Amino acid sequence: MDNNRLCVGLIGLGRQGHNHYNNLLTLSQIIKLKYVCDLKVDETWEREYSNIPVVTKDYFDVLNDPEVDAVVIVTSTNTHAQIIKDAALAGKHIFCEKPFSMDTNEDEIKDVLRIVKEKNVKLQMGFQRRVDPQFREIHENIISGKIGEPQIIKSTSRDPFVLDKELIKRIGTLPYDFTIHDLDLVRYMMNSNISEVYAKGGTLIDPTLKEIGDVDTIALVLQFENGTFGMIDNSRQAVYGYDQRIEVFGSEGMSKAENVSDSTVELFNKDNTKVANPLPIFTERFHQAYINEIVSFVDSVVNDKPVIADGVDAVMAERAAQAVEKSIKSGKSEKVDTVFEI
Ligand SMILES: NC(=O)c1ccc[n+]([C@@H]2O[C@H](COP(=O)([O-])OP(=O)(O)OC[C@H]3O[C@@H](n4cnc5c(N)ncnc54)[C@H](O)[C@@H]3O)[C@@H](O)[C@H]2O)c1
Repeated sequence: MDNNRLCVGLIGLGRQGHNHYNNLLTLSQIIKLKYVCDLKVDETWEREYSNIPVVTKDYFDVLNDPEVDAVVIVTSTNTHAQIIKDAALAGKHIFCEKPFSMDTNEDEIKDVLRIVKEKNVKLQMGFQRRVDPQFREIHENIISGKIGEPQIIKSTSRDPFVLDKELIKRIGTLPYDFTIHDLDLVRYMMNSNISEVYAKGGTLIDPTLKEIGDVDTIALVLQFENGTFGMIDNSRQAVYGYDQRIEVFGSEGMSKAENVSDSTVELFNKDNTKVANPLPIFTERFHQAYINEIVSFVDSVVNDKPVIADGVDAVMAERAAQAVEKSIKSGKSEKVDTVFEI
């Protein structure tokens, strides 16, 4: 700690890494960003990141520095488990983007979580929707009993455009990269593990996604361990923007969040009604949530509090994502194992 600021190394500066980079800079009162690290570092990076003390290709430079308290890992998904393990062994606290992996190798995940526990470091996974201001209000409505006993949850989550196939190969298919956010959020809201999924998925937008074993559209029914139900729909292409809505229905009422736009002005005349489109992309829609999750991570490290989404949360979301992929292929509903011990 330097002047009560957490000393941090950011590992992985691609699409989402840049998002975190910009947010970490705005948090300079609580974070000293000492390292940026990416395999792609070349001579231009020293200039571009001249405000950062060290720019490196090798994440062990970050881990071997005793001044570094914590790492923020935003690398390609298939590197997460190894980098978390190495960071924990080096005694660093860890924020890592979701998901753990793209293939749910639970022996490897258990090994990593065991080391995290033994080394007594914090591990927070990047499920930022839990701390989105609107979704948090819905969660508070649930836990304060304002809608009675929750019975059904509905989550709609649609991206604005189809991602490049090479990027999908690095970060995961629709269930692992995208649906996993809904799966985590509905589990968190209903305060119950997902025990069964029935999923239909297909390529209604880009049939070439089949070449990499992916789909672009998913409709999903869920059962939770406590007997309640959920529905999720996902698309890789909503032509009107980044569509993010959620609704929880309970015995005493209902709470829902609509899309966020950059204008609240609506126009009504005899021909039509006009409202602004939703915000265009995840970095804008969840801007505050991405900041909140890092602030919460720092608070957990500094004040030794539980993190908002831990390794077991990530395992439960990933198992549900795996069941979604399985159900799409089998055409049947699939059970999700909810027992996990490390
Ligand atoms: N929480 C969210 O809303 C959200 C949004 C987007 C992406 N993500 C997650 O963030 C992660 C990164 O996604 P992205 O879209 O930025 O991918 P990306 O491919 O654009 O970026 C990944 C970066 O990691 C670097 N990298 C890979 N291995 C490395 C290593 N060993 N050491 C240092 N750098 C390494 C690559 O060079 C690349 O620049 C993925 O796991 C993805 O699922 C989360």
